[in-house]
Amino acid sequence: MYQLWQTIFINYIDIYQKNLLDGGDMGRIFVKPLGFAVGAEVTGIDLKNPIDDLTKHELLAAWHKHLVLVYPGQSLSHEELVRFSKNFGALDENDFQPNYRDPDNKEILVITNKITNGKLSETRNTGRNWHTDLSYTVHPAKGSLLLCKQKPIVGGDTMWANMYLAYETLSAGMRKFVDGLEAVHDASLIKGLSKRDPEKVATLKKLNPPVVHPVVKTHPETGKKALYLGQRVSGFIGFSEDESEPILKFLNEHATSPEFVYRHRWSVDDLVMWDNRCLVHVALPDFDQTQIRHMIRTSIKGEKTGYLFEEENQGLDKETLLQMIAAVS
Ligand code: SIN
Repeated sequence: MYQLWQTIFINYIDIYQKNLLDGGDMGRIFVKPLGFAVGAEVTGIDLKNPIDDLTKHELLAAWHKHLVLVYPGQSLSHEELVRFSKNFGALDENDFQPNYRDPDNKEILVITNKITNGKLSETRNTGRNWHTDLSYTVHPAKGSLLLCKQKPIVGGDTMWANMYLAYETLSAGMRKFVDGLEAVHDASLIKGLSKRDPEKVATLKKLNPPVVHPVVKTHPETGKKALYLGQRVSGFIGFSEDESEPILKFLNEHATSPEFVYRHRWSVDDLVMWDNRCLVHVALPDFDQTQIRHMIRTSIKGEKTGYLFEEENQGLDKETLLQMIAAVS
């Protein structure tokens, strides 16, 4: 009898693990891969309802495997999105970009091209270069959840690139080189700032001086190494601008190679949840801008992985000072 129960239990664990790893139906949620490198669709769940611990465990396992989870058909209010997002950690209240949040729900960033207060919306061009959310702060977002409320007839797509694969497919020599490297992330490199209200941009920059993060980060939950870069990086610590530029260009181009990318074509009520610790993403302007694209986003707070760039500058040693003098003379 004991053996029978043991066999049933082992079979159950086998099926359970297979469901999480390959996609499959456990009668709870169904996970279907959408791309080779990134992405899975999750169905069989209504996110308006609270989720239990087992479902949360399944979602986390699917998230760590597929990095981007698409939940179609989730017509959530702002409050419901906030409530669901909180299952995965404390939420960022957009204090780093206070001008762009929903005044009634600080956790919601409104990404829209709807006319707002009689003016073109300030967030209509959000995310137009490859980046990872809030990397220009010392506590970058761990994850983000983006809900499509209104969309153009075609386009307005978003792409994500797998930064584990980007790291793992570098040569051993390059991996060794980047392992100890640190990079400067700068909010002034957010694309399209020149088209925003200068006063609001000044506030954004004042609140977000450049910060330094490791170029390779170990994901705290999967233990895997991922590149942490993007197009909001201005250079590497200890390297001149001229030296940094080609290395950065190579690494960013490599990381966003088509084979590492998933491209999502939105439908209204798609909720997409992604892991900023092992992905970069970009919002494409591939649509008729006279049509509305209206999205709401929450960000899950991450751990501190950076420090202020100016702290780095304060402890200059003699050799660095001499190099700086040489660079300007
Ligand atoms: C973002 O960069 O978080 C926005 C992505 C999008 O609007 O598609």
